[in-house]
Amino acid sequence: MSPFKEKVRVVSGIQPTGELHIGNYFGAIRNWLALQDEYECFFFIADYHAITEEWDPEQLRRNTQNLVLDLLACGIDPERSVLFVQSHVPEHTELCWVFNALAGYGDLQRMTQFKEKREHVERTQEFVSVGLFDYPVLQAADILIYHGAKVPVGEDQLQHLELTRRIARRFNARFGAYFPEPEPLLSEAPRIMSPAAPEKKMSKSLGPKHYLALFEPEESFWEKIKTAVTDTGPQGETMSPGVANLFLLLKLSAAPEVYEGFRAEYAQGTIRYAKLKEAVFEHLMEVLRPLRERRAKLTEADARAAMERGAAKAQKVAQETLHEVRRRIGVGPVPPDDVGTS
Ligand code: TYM
Repeated sequence: MSPFKEKVRVVSGIQPTGELHIGNYFGAIRNWLALQDEYECFFFIADYHAITEEWDPEQLRRNTQNLVLDLLACGIDPERSVLFVQSHVPEHTELCWVFNALAGYGDLQRMTQFKEKREHVERTQEFVSVGLFDYPVLQAADILIYHGAKVPVGEDQLQHLELTRRIARRFNARFGAYFPEPEPLLSEAPRIMSPAAPEKKMSKSLGPKHYLALFEPEESFWEKIKTAVTDTGPQGETMSPGVANLFLLLKLSAAPEVYEGFRAEYAQGTIRYAKLKEAVFEHLMEVLRPLRERRAKLTEADARAAMERGAAKAQKVAQETLHEVRRRIGVGPVPPDDVGTS
């Protein structure tokens, strides 16, 4: 039994595929920070998920380390949370293999994220990997290996969580109740849009003009807000997606009076989008400045120390789970207790 089992477990991960952006921050990470006191939290860098599309090994290692530092700068506290790198705890991949036996091919075929990514990969790479198809099964293993009951993520991960619950149910039905059925925890901004194409989700894979990186220079950050798509005038009842996205960013970063002030101007038709953009930039910067200051002081040694410590704590729990899973499904060396009893 793990020493913390009384506390509800929170598990979430992020891929080291490039810079951290404000979609990741407001969509998930800010929620992670708030959960650290109340729950036993496991947060990790999903580097094995990042090899489901073409990758450069050196870049991957650099991104992984940088992301650890970014998360520390955001306020993930390795004293209170278990912060680690997925591949440093290889038990995740073994559990993934077990879950492969419980995941339906048809279920995986229906995953929206797979369909979207497959289209992109088919256009840009030599082949679509089996890893990309199997991606959500590894995600189920990431969560269930820690008996995660709550998973703070953005909206794009809900379908993957549904599959995780299905796998947990199948396992429990066949091998006895063991895994919880994890619930998603959505933030107040579960879907932040691209400034350049506001009908699409903010994402690294669309290219740099489609995301605002947490630690990018202020000049380019401002440039992307300044050129964000809005609309050309009154649009009737519904707000255009670009304007709605700017309002959301303002709501997330400014005091309620500031937000309400701009909403009133919008309602009266007197709003100037240039002014709204300036306000969004300034308030976002105010939120991000302390993170940027902390990030500038962190070093490689801090990343290494955090990764080592996190992996040791995570692995202890992961090994317990895997031991029990192997026992229940009938694989692995026969445990000493069972020898000679059959
Ligand atoms: P990833 O790396 O794409 O994103 C990390 C987190 O950021 C959220 N997010 C967003 N939220 C709001 N608006 C956006 N535009 C936006 N873009 C990203 C994501 O929903 C996510 O919460 N598959 C996961 C990583 C993962 C994982 C896990 C998560 C692997 N194993 C186990 C939870 C539990 C992913 O690719 O996240």
